[in-house]
Order: sequence, then C-alpha cells, then structure tokens
Amino acid sequence: MFSELARHILEKLQIDEQASGVYADRWIEPTGGRILSICPANEQPLAHVLTASREDYELVIESSLTAQAQWRTIPAPRRGEIVRQIGWALRQHKSDLAMLVTLETGKIVTEAEGEVQEMIDICDYAVGLSRQLYGLTMPSERPAHRLFEQWHPLGLVGVITAFNFPVAVWAWNAAIALVCGDAVIWKPSPRTPLTAIAVQRIVADVLRQNQMPAVAALCVDETKEVGQWMADDRRLPLISATGSCTMGRHLSEAVARRLGRSLLELGGNNAVIVTASANQPLALRAVLFAAVGTAGQRCTTLRRLIIHETIADEFLARLVAAYDRIRIGDPWDRQNLLGPLINQGAVDAMQKALQLAARDGAKIRCGGTRLDRSGFFVRPAIVEATPGLPVLREETFAPILYVLRYDSLDEAIAWHNDVDQGLSSAIFSDRFADVEHFLSVNGSDCGIANVNIGTSGAEIGGAFGGEKDTGGGREAGSDSWKAYMRRQTCTLNYGDSLPLAQGVEFDL
Ligand code: UN1
Repeated sequence: MFSELARHILEKLQIDEQASGVYADRWIEPTGGRILSICPANEQPLAHVLTASREDYELVIESSLTAQAQWRTIPAPRRGEIVRQIGWALRQHKSDLAMLVTLETGKIVTEAEGEVQEMIDICDYAVGLSRQLYGLTMPSERPAHRLFEQWHPLGLVGVITAFNFPVAVWAWNAAIALVCGDAVIWKPSPRTPLTAIAVQRIVADVLRQNQMPAVAALCVDETKEVGQWMADDRRLPLISATGSCTMGRHLSEAVARRLGRSLLELGGNNAVIVTASANQPLALRAVLFAAVGTAGQRCTTLRRLIIHETIADEFLARLVAAYDRIRIGDPWDRQNLLGPLINQGAVDAMQKALQLAARDGAKIRCGGTRLDRSGFFVRPAIVEATPGLPVLREETFAPILYVLRYDSLDEAIAWHNDVDQGLSSAIFSDRFADVEHFLSVNGSDCGIANVNIGTSGAEIGGAFGGEKDTGGGREAGSDSWKAYMRRQTCTLNYGDSLPLAQGVEFDL
C-alpha cells in the first residue's frame, strides 16, 4: 500500500527514482553527491537525489544573474501575473504536493494540505502586492524640489529552508521576492529534497510557458556546503534562512562579514499563559493543536504552558486525558492526528530532554516513549516543571509540553519572557486588563502575541518572525516585502536656483 502510494505520487509529480536536485535555467546532471530521501513513517526509501557541486552552484548563480537582469525590467504587475499563474498551478497540484509533503516529512495530510494552501495564499497576496510597492513622497524644505523614495529589486535572494515546512517557507520568500523583481535560489533541507524538486518543476513550467527568464532555481546539497557558499557570496545581497539558532548565528556572521543582508527565522520557545478567567475548553483545544500538531516540529510549537494555580489540576487532568485519545499512526491516514518525528536524531533529542528534565526533578505526566513499530513515532509528553529548570530554555523539536503553575500575572509574564528565543506567544483570558497587560510594552516580548488562540498556525497576511535569538526577521505579509528591495531616496530640483539644505550658504 505504501509503496504503491509513493510510486503513484512521485510519478504524478514527475520525480524519477534518481532525480536531479539542481535546476539552473534547466535541470542539470549534478556532480556533487547523492542523497536518499526516506519516509519517516516507515523508514522506506522514496527516491535518490543528485546534489550540487561547486561547479553546479556556479552555473546556478550565473543563470540566475542573467535571468534577474531581464526580470527586473518587467513591470511589477506583469511579474505579479506570473506569480498568479504559479498560485493557480499550485492549486491544481495541491493534493499531490501535499501527499508528497506527508510522505517526506511525516506531517499529517490535513496539515500538509494547509501548508500548500499557505503557498497559494502567499501567491494571491503577492499578486496584489505587485501593484502596491509604494514609495513615499515627502515635502522638501527647498522650493521647487521634490523629495521621494522608490523601491528597486535587490537582485538574487538565497532562500534556505528547513524540513518542517519544506514548501510554504520557500513560497513566503519566493512569491514576494519574485514580484519585487528578484531571482530566487533555493537550498532546501537535505531531508526534504523531493518536495523542493516537485515545487521547482511546477514553478519552472509556469515560467517557461510564459517565456520568462529562469528566476527560480534550486540547489540541493548533502551537507551544509551550499548554505556556506551562499552566505559568503557577494552576488547574493540577501540570504533568507529558516532553521536553528546555531545555524542562524553562523550564517549571519558570514553574511555580515561581507555586509550582506540576512533575514532570519530561527528557533522558538513559545509559551501560553492560561489565566483563571480563561475559556478552558477553548484553551484546551488550542493547547492540544499547538503542542502536538506537526509532532511538535513547528518553530511556533507550544513548548511551555504557564497556567494559573487555581485551575491547573483540573486543566491538566483534561489535557492528559486528551493526549491519551490522540490517534498516532501513518500520516496519510486521515484518522491520525500525530505522525512520526523526522528521524532517529529527533527521537534521541526528545528522550534526552526528558531524561534531563527528570534528573532535575520534573515529573513526566504522560508520554515520551517510542512506539513499537517502524518509523520515528513517539507518544507526546507532558512534563510538570518548576521555573528555572535548564531544559526549559532549550527548544527540543519534539512534542514535549512543560507545565508551570503561576500565582500572579507579573510572575507568569516574567517566566514567559525568560528564554533566549522570542517567536510566538499567547494568552487565554476573558479579563480585559490581563489581555492588555500581555500585549503591552511590559507583556510578551515575542514577534507574535495572540489572544485566545494558540501559538502556531499564523496566517500569511501578517509579518511572521520573532525577536531575540529568533533572529529578528519578518517574512510573508504586511511590509515584509521591503527586505527584498533596495530603497532609493531621490531629490529632484525642477527650479533654476540651487538652494542648499539646512540653509547652508556656499556662493563664490
Ligand atoms: C515554521 O515552523 O517554520 O504559524 C513555520 C505557523 C505556520 C508557519 C510555521 N504558519 O505555525
């Protein structure tokens, strides 16, 4: 059944048993190495992928530079029309592409479909944006002068994505970068090369059908080499990267050394505060999805639940019971809510974190064990912790929820903010003053702060990203597009005298 399903999906998306992982202005036969993509739900092979050598990388850069030089002269609304067609092609391939995401990441089908929908949504958003790349006009202090700013395409954008959102995060960057007039070079996670190849094929077909230059390229690698080449490469004015804080620190140092721009979306260590006035059934459902969804492998996953002590026992009892009812199993079976972790390393990391927590006196209320079957399945864990526990500061990419009981809201917010990361946060409360306090300058220090919804599952219309060690970048909606363009301030004199600003006199 599995091999039939896998063969069927790979065939429909035109992925060979040994696929090229490098697209410059065409698929090339790469000379780097070879990786095997496996399904984490049963450890079965899906397909081999050939990876980029330095020579292949150079080809990709050269063809992308040529393509961008042409693309940037095409009017932005016309570029938007191409992105509209990409969105349309994604709609047509939505279910196959989602199934491939499921097979390659282990993400359950409904979430994989949501991820492809996120790609479609950002394409729609970018189409409208292509007519709204506004510059400002300011009043000049000088007579007969006009002062304004305009936005030009930046050039080549390197996009480095992680395994957990193998297609949506590329789309957030690419859809916006393309309407802005940039070309995009994609280095996907070596754990999810097939989904990247499928997307590349869909996008390249749209460009080719429209006789457009090859402004979307792909460069799969085995190790971290391509990422390093990109970080060091002056021909890439912007590197947008998603991944761990360690990766981001390393990458941004390299990009900064050449004074390039980096847009970082790194680790999260997200918390929810549930106050005594909260709508508890609502909070319970939200906590469940945020903590267990995607097997705890979102950067927005809920990792810490900070709950008022007067309601903690009852809420926890209900939560443990709900965890017990979660169906774990093959992610393509729609009955299941929890698929596998990505690999053995993720299982080990989860067990290590639980051991450390237990060693330091935390109490494991449920879960944490591995399922007795093939694939990297674990039972989601709830851990009763105390503030200050070292493991609370770490982002373990697995379904572990630490629970803390609080007395005063100030204390809860202090614990909430007492981590290095600052991505997403939420409060559940029906008390206006508590909500406003959480959203105030003395409240959550995260890039995302929600009320009565969980920490994950953001819409594309808002700017997405976080503060502190999360890296400070903002992707997707709002004015995130500005990162993909260069601003030019222009002062234009239409008079016949030359007054100087600030009243400076400089006459012979
Ligand atoms: C990620 O985990 O890297 O808000 C991105 C969310 C999704 C995106 C997550 N829209 O959970």
